[in-house]
Amino acid sequence: MNKRKILVTSALPYANGDIHLGHLMEVIQTDIWVRLQKLQGHDCIYVCADDAHGTAIMLSAEAQGITPQQLIDRINAQHQKDFADFLIGFDNYYSTHSEENRLLSESIYKAMDANGHIERRSIRQMFDPEKNLFLADRYIVGTCPKCKTDNQYGDNCEACGSTYSPAELIDPRSAISGATPVEKESEHFFFDLPAFRDMLRQWTRSGTLQEQVANKVSEWLDDDLQQWDISRDAPYFGFEIPGAPGKFFYVWVDAPIGYMASFQNYCEKNAVDFDAYWKTDSECEVYHFIGKDIVNFHTLFWPAVLTSAGYRTPSAVYVHGFLTVDGTKMSKSRGTFVNARTYLDHLNPEYLRYYLAAKLSGGIDDLDLNLEDFAQRVNSDLVGKVVNIASRCAGFIGKGFDGMLAAQPDNPELLADIQSIADEVAQFYEKREYGKAIRLIMTRADAANQYINDKEPWVIAKADKQSPELQAICSTGINAFRLLVCYLKPVLPGIAAQVEEFLAIEPLLWKDSEVILSSHRINKFTPLITRVEADKVQAMIEATQRDYESKQASKMSQTEPQASTLDNTGFEAEIEFDDFARVDLRIARISNAQHVEGADKLLQLTLDLGPDKNGDPIQRNVFSGIKSAYSPEELVGKLTVVVANLKPRKMKFGMSEGMVLAAGPGGKDIFLLEPHDGATPGMRVI
Ligand code: MSP
Ligand code: ZN
Repeated sequence: MNKRKILVTSALPYANGDIHLGHLMEVIQTDIWVRLQKLQGHDCIYVCADDAHGTAIMLSAEAQGITPQQLIDRINAQHQKDFADFLIGFDNYYSTHSEENRLLSESIYKAMDANGHIERRSIRQMFDPEKNLFLADRYIVGTCPKCKTDNQYGDNCEACGSTYSPAELIDPRSAISGATPVEKESEHFFFDLPAFRDMLRQWTRSGTLQEQVANKVSEWLDDDLQQWDISRDAPYFGFEIPGAPGKFFYVWVDAPIGYMASFQNYCEKNAVDFDAYWKTDSECEVYHFIGKDIVNFHTLFWPAVLTSAGYRTPSAVYVHGFLTVDGTKMSKSRGTFVNARTYLDHLNPEYLRYYLAAKLSGGIDDLDLNLEDFAQRVNSDLVGKVVNIASRCAGFIGKGFDGMLAAQPDNPELLADIQSIADEVAQFYEKREYGKAIRLIMTRADAANQYINDKEPWVIAKADKQSPELQAICSTGINAFRLLVCYLKPVLPGIAAQVEEFLAIEPLLWKDSEVILSSHRINKFTPLITRVEADKVQAMIEATQRDYESKQASKMSQTEPQASTLDNTGFEAEIEFDDFARVDLRIARISNAQHVEGADKLLQLTLDLGPDKNGDPIQRNVFSGIKSAYSPEELVGKLTVVVANLKPRKMKFGMSEGMVLAAGPGGKDIFLLEPHDGATPGMRVI
């Protein structure tokens, strides 16, 4: 056999958040592929790392009152534990904040610079004068210039969908400090991407990309390619650019170099030749598995950077679609944004591996985790078909034959047929058509079950539990089971290991499907997996939802006065007039009020805020914590004061679109502010 040398990566998860089902889909896809290669005897090394740099991580550490190093160390340990528990077989899991990565990033940059691919020029950019920080678009908020919805991010409006530059926002503010940003000039470093247009055109069309991806990349290449801004000004958590104090590599520069750095760290520990994999004429293969949101970084910048610096380009970039849950984008409030750990608290990791494998293809379509289908599929395939074969045969071999398999199976044709699909299954895995591999395997699981149904070993055993025929039939079943498990091993490594133990065999390799077990003693069968229980799935969703709600609640309680911000009068810290002026207080009439089922403190109010410009009534739904002091009936018709421009907040019971003003120590003593009559709904409170 021709032994391939392969380096494989999954995208590096950011070091400021938990691993969730979306990340898992990617690493499971990659892990299955890597395991196939290893089972086939190839030299395949799978590396990954946390993506530790950037403004978000810097700010996140600051908000938690810890150093970025402390944050990324803590997250790294959690990520590694999560992945290990999902049986992801990384050969190395590192961090982009490593010495190897610093040195590689510096040397790659120096090579790009020496080759004339780095340009320096000043640009004007939004700057937060309070935090002394340049603001990326997503850190600027303001009012949409088109539809006038407030609190829209930097470059596009969630309400009306229009796009614009942050400078066009009305009343722009820094999302970090609330300060009004100013434009400021600074020197930036640019990578000359357009110089690589021809190289990229060729690379794109040389079998490195899926067709849909290649088409997209071709469009970009035909477009006006821009130079790539690769520097960020201090303060920034990252690597300083050599010879440029106060300038840092943009996180997306050293992130893909982090693939190389993690691999280099592996090479140091395992005496592997790094250069053999990365030199331009390398015979080794390099593959990146990524999601469709980060294609440009991997198919434009990355191959161009590698080429500029004198390294080989990836053999292929394998792009997958996004995971949705029950047909929609994962959502925190619906409880479908499930963290790895929450899943593990309730369900077996191999269920998810199997389900995703059964639905994965080599394309870039999104993949839906339908929770009902999930339980049904795992139960019917894994429990009902595969494991069932063993549980129907093993007992008879144990009881009647002291665990010894027959010298000859009863039905060698059945086994030969199962053996005959080995190459086809491997090909499907190789092409990442896991769904097709699984379907093919399941046709043979069906055939084996049908065989056992037809032979009815339990009937034979009733008459003679030592009948040679019984032994031969059950040995056929056990062998069929062994072959199927061999094919499923890339997907189900944990179950495969249990089966190897049960069958008393060495770890299965792909070529082991060529042989059949005969006159071999197996161990006692113990149940391998249990059925997926629907209530466990439900419990997982509810735990996700609870977790989200308690985070929301703690965020909300942080907006209440905190001792440290109160001065000696007991008042909140001073604010500027402008800050106050931004609070839009309006008169509202409570047109309806009702109890909220399941809520101890809340009433649901419908507020009438007068007519809009077209004369249509403006109505708001607000949840207010005044149930202890008011009954719904006495509220209807009252005037009150509402914060009309508070960003709507998703609460457990629905969206709350504002806040009514009340005073008092609590309990029965909460007093809604009630303006004099004469005030009418919609009037501004000044
Ligand atoms: N840090 C960058 C990658 C740098 S690679 C040099 C990043 N990190 S990420 O944490 O946001 O995403 C990591 C990977 O997870 C990406 O490939 C991304 O596409 C994938 N996924 C994140 N959410 C996903 C789904 N809902 N579904 C499938 N994959 C998704 O991007
Ligand atoms: Zn808008």
